[in-house]
Amino acid sequence: MDVHRGLMCVLKLLLIFGTCTFWKRTVAEPGAGMRTWGRFSKMPYPEDKAFLYDTFPEDFIWAVGTAAYQVEGAWQKDGKGKSVWDTFTRAGSRVITGDVGSDSYHNLAGDLRALQQLGVTHYRFSLSWSRIFANGTRSTYNSKGVEYYRSLILGLKRIRVEPVVTLYHWDLPENLQDVYGGWSSRVLVELFRDYAEFCFQTFGADVKFWITMDNPFVVAWHGYGTGVVAPGIKNDPDLPFRVGHNLLKAHAAAWHVYHERYRAQQRGRVSIALASHWIKPSRTRQESQRACQCSLNFVLGWFAHPLFVDGDYPQCMKHNLTHRLPSFTQAEKEYINGTADFFALSHGPALSFQLINDSLRFGQIEDLDLRMLLFWVHLEYNKPPIFVVESGWFVNGNTKTKDAKHMYYLKRFIMETLKAIRLDKVNVIGYTAWSLLDGFEWHREYGIRRGLYYVDFKSDHLMREPKTSALFYSKLIEKNGFPQLPENRPLVGVFPCDFTWGVAANSIQVETTPMQNVDSNLYIWNISDNGKLKKVEGVEVPIHRRHHFPTGHVSEANNTLLSYYLCFVSELRKANITPVVSLWHHTGKLSTLPVLLEKNRGWQNEETVQAFAQYARLCFQRLGDHVKIWITLNEPNDEDLGYAIGHQLLRAHALAWRVYDNEFRKSQGGKASLVLHMDWVEPAFSFNREDMAPAKRVMDLRVGWFAEPIFGSGNYPEVMHQWLQQRNTIDLFNYHLPTFSEKDRHLVKGTYDFFALSHFTTSMVYDEVEDKYLFKDTLEVQLISDVTWIMSPRRNSPVVPWGLRKALNWVDSHYKNVPIYVMANGVQEDIARFKDSLRVYYLYNYINEALKAYTLDGVNLKGYFAYAFNDRHDPGFGMYGHVHEENIAKSSLTHFKKLLKTTGSQPLVVPYNTVPACLTTHLHVLCYSSGLLWALSLWLLLPC
Ligand SMILES: *[C@@H]1O[C@H](CO)[C@@H](O)[C@H](O)[C@H]1NC(C)=O
Ligand SMILES: *[C@@H]1O[C@H](CO)[C@@H](O)[C@H](O)[C@H]1NC(C)=O
Ligand SMILES: *[C@@H]1O[C@H](CO)[C@@H](O)[C@H](O)[C@H]1NC(C)=O
Ligand SMILES: *[C@@H]1O[C@H](CO)[C@@H](O)[C@H](O)[C@H]1NC(C)=O
Ligand SMILES: *[C@@H]1O[C@H](CO)[C@@H](O)[C@H](O)[C@H]1NC(C)=O
Repeated sequence: MDVHRGLMCVLKLLLIFGTCTFWKRTVAEPGAGMRTWGRFSKMPYPEDKAFLYDTFPEDFIWAVGTAAYQVEGAWQKDGKGKSVWDTFTRAGSRVITGDVGSDSYHNLAGDLRALQQLGVTHYRFSLSWSRIFANGTRSTYNSKGVEYYRSLILGLKRIRVEPVVTLYHWDLPENLQDVYGGWSSRVLVELFRDYAEFCFQTFGADVKFWITMDNPFVVAWHGYGTGVVAPGIKNDPDLPFRVGHNLLKAHAAAWHVYHERYRAQQRGRVSIALASHWIKPSRTRQESQRACQCSLNFVLGWFAHPLFVDGDYPQCMKHNLTHRLPSFTQAEKEYINGTADFFALSHGPALSFQLINDSLRFGQIEDLDLRMLLFWVHLEYNKPPIFVVESGWFVNGNTKTKDAKHMYYLKRFIMETLKAIRLDKVNVIGYTAWSLLDGFEWHREYGIRRGLYYVDFKSDHLMREPKTSALFYSKLIEKNGFPQLPENRPLVGVFPCDFTWGVAANSIQVETTPMQNVDSNLYIWNISDNGKLKKVEGVEVPIHRRHHFPTGHVSEANNTLLSYYLCFVSELRKANITPVVSLWHHTGKLSTLPVLLEKNRGWQNEETVQAFAQYARLCFQRLGDHVKIWITLNEPNDEDLGYAIGHQLLRAHALAWRVYDNEFRKSQGGKASLVLHMDWVEPAFSFNREDMAPAKRVMDLRVGWFAEPIFGSGNYPEVMHQWLQQRNTIDLFNYHLPTFSEKDRHLVKGTYDFFALSHFTTSMVYDEVEDKYLFKDTLEVQLISDVTWIMSPRRNSPVVPWGLRKALNWVDSHYKNVPIYVMANGVQEDIARFKDSLRVYYLYNYINEALKAYTLDGVNLKGYFAYAFNDRHDPGFGMYGHVHEENIAKSSLTHFKKLLKTTGSQPLVVPYNTVPACLTTHLHVLCYSSGLLWALSLWLLLPC
């Protein structure tokens, strides 16, 4: 809602009715919010989860907030009385207090500077009641305390930041607790009204937004129920409801004072900050939604329902608690009803996941979705203007200024707010990042930090240092959101006709038991029509079982099997599908070496390297007429293998490549290289800090490790040498990186015909420890995801299309103009989803980024292979599902075909392709070299 328009409304309506709240309040039908879950479950997936590039309304309020007890310090200075927090933090064996906090009382200039740097339009802070009235009542008025707030407000005026003032943020004067029992007493209603009136009178000329109380739920439930926060009272399960009752009345009293005596001159708005978690139904049934609705009503509705609906508690609370819940008289209902001029909503860790008791979840699932919460409030309370008066997350207490986690959560919550405004038409008028400064975090003490500004609590001056989240927030405010950038728009264009399109089916499934249900039929893959696999009657392809043979030597090669492969690849060729064959496929823990070689120290043994070259020769010899693209090693760049084995693999690849180059290239005319696994790694602060070293280090040590010896200098990357050396000098690390002899260097360097990579996802890194589980020790990097990315069901595998473009550019910038193939690119999705909309989205957007790399960046991209062909061997990745030995085309297949038609310059011309049975039953093919397996895997090139 436009503030100016709001004022006009006041003026006009004052003339007509003499009274006006800022928006015309009408009451929604009871429980209208319950429609929220149904609505969002029908949103198109994953498009609805995609990032929204857009800006906020022109007059949007950008705020940041603090609470007095968390930051002010000076707990006994200049006549301030004690608050319940001053005593609570000293009670029992407690030793950690907010006596100093971040000492805002003495750091006004520092706080104002920080606010100015951020560029916020509003600053939300709270008044310390006992700093103004030392014992809680007017008779102990403390002029020095009032002076402090006056200079704060004056300072804000000077830098053109509007105050949003909270009268009471949990720090009740201790005297009121001692004398009356705090909020359990009705007397507090009067005392609060008086305190509020004093504040309106004293500061009101400069304040347009008042918040009477912060989070009455926490005060009532945890201050007087569980005792987790001050005053720490517990044991009477009904006390929280009596406390809540008084809080509501006190708020209403303050609102009425303002409304009746100050609104006309001061023209401000008054509300109460209500916090809520979000909650999702654990099942799709109506009862679950009803339970969610009740959960929200117990937390948010407890206070919001009386104020925004009818002056009374939500039905489900009354029903559940019966006599335990106090009741309002008719007059009280009317008095409370409508005493909020806007909806002040808090969201974040102060409540969610920390202070929500299990009994309040009603068996449902707590969630952090701010967008849905905003929509629920919008429906339930009939479209009030919503001011998000607290939002954010936290980092560990020992995190310094690189608070990536907090920054990305802010980004997420702000993006969800933007979606609420633009897509859901919710009237959100402002957003408050929490908090301005690190401070005392209530029951978490100094164990977490929530500031945009870092405060070193051990230092003398408690300097305020901007964190990355502060830089992020200030940029965001400057741009008023996330304006669309040209690089985010899809590109329209085509790949050249000789561009290679394929599907990868390269997962290794070692069959350890004889196969019972092997399908030995021949199929037709009807790719241009319905995409179904059609059985061809009367053709059988022999199926081979695994046999154990003692050695890995070529002299003992199994001719039957080789003939089988020959049949296989020639069949593919007949079908106009070009096979791309890899000789060794790294499969993590599982060895794919012949047993005897494996037993004899595997790759560490020189004999294995030589045997691999022999085996390669045999495959080139026998299959080379049909296979024109060879992959020696697939994804050997796995850190877990270690650098010694990596060295051997490099040599094995080089030997095999040279065999092809010397003996077969001329007659067969094919190409050979290896495939490197290359997910993209982005610096976590790329958009506001030049801190590229950690990301560069990861790329150099993961990809450069294999790429540089082959495609570059013939040696390991300089960064890798230096890094490992430096690591070896500290602690007891021993990352031995072998040295290339002159001979090996010549052997390895230049052994490629193209650069092939497999790419699935992107992660971000920075160099501060936040989450130990995602901290990579060797590289000293913290892995993190941008929480606005679309997540896939696979852990740590978000969908980040632009990562592919960056990866391709990385290769191009390191190895100028090298021909590049994307040999595998795909996403995992629930195998039960045949309408695999995530994969459709993924393939479309990743291929589009590949197109940008090709068209706009001039990357020499030669081909793209979608991963994967079938769920059978790559569960959840396939464009075909596999159910009861049947192959069922998923939606992605149709879309992929369409994409090929529109992205490539030539449509598919072959009506259908014949695919032998082995494609469906043995997607990867195991090349038995004398019985035990050197793995062969396959890519299928689709005809252009
Ligand atoms: C607060 O202090 C004044 C002055 O000492 C005293 O008159 C008054 O009774 C006190 N009020 C309460 C509630 O303790
Ligand atoms: C509460 O206020 C709304 C809107 O002004 C009105 O429709 C409703 O009748 C009121 N309810 C009570 C109990 O005062
Ligand atoms: C109230 O809610 C609690 C928690 O879900 C439940 O165990 C209890 O049975 C409910 N009582 C009534 C009377 O609805
Ligand atoms: C949750 O609430 C129940 C019932 O009010 C209480 O018995 C229990 O101690 C509370 N647990 C926590 C962790 O606050
Ligand atoms: C080759 O492999 C097939 C199938 O596994 C097996 O039946 C046959 O005995 C093997 N032949 C030799 C010579 O090892």
